[in-house]
Amino acid sequence: MSTRAPAVEARQLVKTYPGGVTALRGMDLTVTAGTVFGLLGPNGAGKSTTVKILTTLARPDSGTASVAGHDVLAHPDRVRRAIGVVAQKSGADPVATGRENLLLQGRLYGMRGAAVQRRADELLERFTLADAGKRLVKGYSGGMLRRLDVALGLMHRPEVLFLDEPTTGLDPEARTAMWDEISRLAGDEGLTIVLTTHYLEEADRLAERIAIVDRGRIVVEGTPDELKGELRGDAVHVELRAEAGPEAVTALAGLPGVHEAVAEGRRVSVRAEDGAAAVPVLLAALERAGATVAAATVARPSLDDVYLRYAGRRFQDAESEGAATAPEPALAGGAR
Ligand SMILES: Nc1ncnc2c1ncn2[C@@H]1O[C@H](COP(=O)(O)OP(=O)(O)OP(=O)(O)O)[C@@H](O)[C@H]1O
Ligand SMILES: [Mg+2]
Repeated sequence: MSTRAPAVEARQLVKTYPGGVTALRGMDLTVTAGTVFGLLGPNGAGKSTTVKILTTLARPDSGTASVAGHDVLAHPDRVRRAIGVVAQKSGADPVATGRENLLLQGRLYGMRGAAVQRRADELLERFTLADAGKRLVKGYSGGMLRRLDVALGLMHRPEVLFLDEPTTGLDPEARTAMWDEISRLAGDEGLTIVLTTHYLEEADRLAERIAIVDRGRIVVEGTPDELKGELRGDAVHVELRAEAGPEAVTALAGLPGVHEAVAEGRRVSVRAEDGAAAVPVLLAALERAGATVAAATVARPSLDDVYLRYAGRRFQDAESEGAATAPEPALAGGAR
């Protein structure tokens, strides 16, 4: 067991914005030093608000938080020195070059002389911006700008790096490149990364631990495998040639190792302890029941399935809800 203090610890954070939107309703978070932690949630879940509080840019109405061992309310200056922040919206100056942006950032943190020049060039190199570093930022592609944002966050060698939606708006190629960069950073000695995302795949791929955020609080937390492992077995979907009747469900429901058979249109879905082994058994049972099978697929449980289980709705549905409406009224014990 590690004896190191957690890099981030938040207890019961509550935040209501002027106007009455309660963004956080008791947010708890513990991030072990030297790990990548993913805050995964749909639009409006409260991810950026959490990051703003942890990075001293906003104050909670109640609750406590410390980052790198410093209390965010009592010692915001110490927290700021220990962290790097990549906000959801780029903070780079568009009418300066990438290198000028890095130098300015370094100087803001008290770096001087050859050291700041060396650090800027090292980061430009590392983020494949060596040539682009001489050009004005306003001419950068989305991927280049995001890489510069991360470089800016790292300039003063922080202990904890916050990345708020590092890949939103990037094309698939730039996203993959950013994932590679973040994975490499994660290997750096001691760096703790707190990343927010609304991409299930991104959290799955980058984070050692994930907390799923819904309506201002954590609904479940664990390693990606732990979360998916809580859903027993694989999902098996069988596509029939004709509408699936009740007899198809009945035929599958009694089979050993098969749970939760449901029919929807021409599709019958079950959970099976071993999906691959279950397929021939399922197909035989369906044929016996008079159903003709068109196709069968086996899927490992996804984070979307985990989200559905804990939040009670599909991630995609929550995304459109979050974008369209304010969150639900505060729950008991929540915000004023
Ligand atoms: N400055 C603000 N004033 C008023 N309401 C705000 C403010 N910032 C955020 N909110 C509201 O608080 C809730 C949580 O917002 P937040 O930005 O923390 O969510 P998020 O999880 O980061 O969402 P997204 O995925 O869209 O970035 C939302 O309902 C949002 O509209
Ligand atoms: Mg956000």
